[in-house]
Amino acid sequence: MIDYYRQIIDSKLNQFCNDQNLHIDNFRGALCYSLVNGGKRLRAILVLTIIALKRQVSEDDYKIAMGLEMMHAYSLIHDDLPAMDNALLRRNLPTNHIVFGEDLAILAGDGLNTNAFYMISNTNIAPEKIVKIVKTLSKKTGIYGMVLGQAADILSSKNRLNKPQKWLVNFIHKNKTARFLQSCCEIGAILSDQDEKIFSKFGLYLGMSYQIIDDYLDIVSDKKVLGKDKKDIDNNTLTYPKVYGIKKSLNLANKLKGLAIDAVKNIQGHERLIELAEFIVKRVS
Ligand code: IPE
Ligand code: IPE
Ligand code: MG
Ligand code: MG
Ligand code: MG
Repeated sequence: MIDYYRQIIDSKLNQFCNDQNLHIDNFRGALCYSLVNGGKRLRAILVLTIIALKRQVSEDDYKIAMGLEMMHAYSLIHDDLPAMDNALLRRNLPTNHIVFGEDLAILAGDGLNTNAFYMISNTNIAPEKIVKIVKTLSKKTGIYGMVLGQAADILSSKNRLNKPQKWLVNFIHKNKTARFLQSCCEIGAILSDQDEKIFSKFGLYLGMSYQIIDDYLDIVSDKKVLGKDKKDIDNNTLTYPKVYGIKKSLNLANKLKGLAIDAVKNIQGHERLIELAEFIVKRVS
């Protein structure tokens, strides 16, 4: 199912890019460069897998899933900028600002961010559901989530935060990564009338586990396999391995995966969620 949804989302994002006539080719190029060139599509897969536990996935659901990948692509473009992580490689390709310049990269990120909300609202989904989806996504990717986490990550890397390390690394990971993944799971539940609280819990644990593995791979993985620059040590980024060591971090990621699986144990068809959780900790990139 993971590969199946990935292929559909890849092809729909390709189609989206082919359909865009924005009159400004360089801008369209910068947007689409980071939208169509690979990635695991985890955020889209999460929402679609959760919906499919209850009912058939619809074209409107795919639009939401595409919107989530747009939000994610924006976060990666901005994360890689020289003023942020200063990364040169992403998904085994030069980063957006290397190809298009910082100016267009910033604007492509801005455009993808706002277009996520256009994708969501330009559907035939019931208005009260659209409001709930916009509410969770904007809360958890904005100043109460991803952007807050990124700010803490950057300030901490410059030793500009005076907080205990264990508290801070948890705060950074929860906000910069887990909140967004949590909102994807909540959105899946909203769209398919399932218990949002259960999926919210699942998403938060999964998201924490996800970023710990990202940190782990930044140390143990090969750049070619990872497809991105290993920047954490150079950038003085506060990571789980830095605070807890590699072995304990891996144990923690596995423990959080277990808690995620536990949260959905009474959901019918939860084997598919277990498959996703296992994929997250066993992934190599
Ligand atoms: C990378 O996200 C940034 C993090 C939040 C860890 P992904 O690992 O999901 O990136 P892609 O989309 O698969 O390239
Ligand atoms: C980034 O975390 C999280 C985002 C909000 C994009 P990282 O900086 O660790 O992500 P990678 O390793 O560059 O993908
Ligand atoms: Mg970063
Ligand atoms: Mg980074
Ligand atoms: Mg990383």
